[in-house]
Amino acid sequence: MPDNQDKYDLSFFDITGNCNLRCPFCINDWSTIHGNVPVSEKTFGKILTLLPLLNSFYLSCYFEPTIHPDFVSIIKMIPDEHRKKVLFTTNLSKKLSDDVIEGLSNSGFNYINISLDSLNPQVFESLRRGARFDVFYDNLRCLTEAFSANPNAPPLRYITILNRHNVDEIPKLIEDCAVNYLSTMNELRIFVPMPHIGKDWIKDNEITEDRRNTLWETLYEFPHKWMYVDYGKKTEYDEFFDSLEDPKKKKIYFLPPFTGLRISSEGIVELTHMGIESKYDINKMDDPYSVFKEILSLHHLDVERAGEIKNLHNVISDKNAAIRERDDSICNLTNERNALTEEKHMLTDEKDGLTDELGMIKATYSYMLLQKDMAGVWRKIRHSAGKLLFKNNPELKNRIKNTLRIGK
Ligand SMILES: C[S@@+](CC[C@H](N)C(=O)[O-])C[C@H]1O[C@@H](n2cnc3c(N)ncnc32)[C@H](O)[C@@H]1O
Ligand code: SF4
Repeated sequence: MPDNQDKYDLSFFDITGNCNLRCPFCINDWSTIHGNVPVSEKTFGKILTLLPLLNSFYLSCYFEPTIHPDFVSIIKMIPDEHRKKVLFTTNLSKKLSDDVIEGLSNSGFNYINISLDSLNPQVFESLRRGARFDVFYDNLRCLTEAFSANPNAPPLRYITILNRHNVDEIPKLIEDCAVNYLSTMNELRIFVPMPHIGKDWIKDNEITEDRRNTLWETLYEFPHKWMYVDYGKKTEYDEFFDSLEDPKKKKIYFLPPFTGLRISSEGIVELTHMGIESKYDINKMDDPYSVFKEILSLHHLDVERAGEIKNLHNVISDKNAAIRERDDSICNLTNERNALTEEKHMLTDEKDGLTDELGMIKATYSYMLLQKDMAGVWRKIRHSAGKLLFKNNPELKNRIKNTLRIGK
C-alpha cells in the first residue's frame, strides 16, 4: 500500500459525550443529545490501538473534553510515539486543576485550540452560554503561565466565531492572544447555520460579506498569524457530485474525497466516508487495529477500481467521438458515390444513344458502298433508314448528298 494510503485522512473522536455550556450557535442539537458517557480506560485502550492508522487524533471535536472526570489519566495513557498527532479544542470554562494544567503542559501534543469569541466579559458570556468569564480568564492565565515556563509545552491556537457583537474587537483580540496568551494562530470562523440554531439569534449575529471584507483589509498587513475558515462552503467535489442527476452516475461517481472515522466516547466507530450507516462497537472487537486496517485497504481498492472505471468511461467516450467522426465521413463519401453513379448512368445513356447512331451510320455506309446506282441509293436512304438518321444528324445528310453529288 502506498504511504498516503496506510492511514485514514481524518478522524473525529471525543473523550466525552456532552458539554458544560450551551452556546447559541453550537453545532450540536442539544435536544437530541442526552447524558454523557466519558470514555472508559478500557474503551480508550482499544481506541488507542488505531493510532498507527490515523494522521491526527482529536480528543474533542463535538463536545467538551475537560469535563472528563479522569482527564489527566486519560491523557497519560497515550503512547509517547503518537503524542505529536494529538490535538483538541476546549472552551476552557471549567475550572482546571493544577494537575490538568501540568498534564497538558507536559503532554507533547501537536497543539491545543482554545475557543475564545471575546475578551469582553459581557459579550463572552452571551456567546458562551453557561460560562463565567472570570473562570475562563483564570484558566487562561494559569495555562499560559505554565506553558510559558515549559519550552516543550504544546503550541496554543485560538478559534473565534465571528459575529456582529465581536467583529469590531477582532484585531485587538488577535493581538492580545499573540502578545499575552501564546497564540501561534487565530482561526476565524463564521458559524455554520445549522437548522436547529434559532433564526432570531442568526439574524441578530450574522455579519455581511462586506463587513468581513473590511475586516480582512484591516488584518491584511497584521504581523500576527490568523486564518479564516468557512466550514459551510461546499468543496468543488461536493458541487460536482450535487450536479449529477442520474442516480446511476451518482453511484459510480460516489468517490469520497477522504477516508474518515468518527469515534464516540462510548467506542462506537462510524465510517464517515461511507454513504450508508456504518457503526461498529470497538468494545466488541478483539483486534480493532486489524479490522480498521482491512477496511482501509478495501476502501483504497474500491477507490482504485472506481478510478479505473472512470478512466474507461473517458476512453469509451473518446472512441464514441471518433466513431461519430467516421460516420460523418462515410455519409459524405456515400453522397459523393451516389452523385458519381448518377453521372455514370447519364453518360452510359448518352454512350448507348451514340452507339445506336453509329450502328445506323455503319449500316447505311456499307449499304451505300455495295450499290452502283447512287441516285437510287439516295432515294432509298431518304425514304427508309435515313429518315431517322437525318432527323438527328442534319449535318450528315448534307455530307452524304455532297458525296453522292446530288443537288437537292
Ligand atoms: C463543537 S466545539 C467542541 C469543543 C468545545 N466545546 C469548544 O467549544 O471549544 C469545537 C469548535 O467548534 C466551534 N463551533 C461550534 N458550533 C459551531 C458552528 N455552528 N459553526 C462553526 N463552528 C462552531 C466552537 O466554537 C469550537 O471552537
Ligand atoms: S462549548 Fe462547544 S460544544 Fe459546548 S455548547 Fe459551546 S460550542 Fe457547543
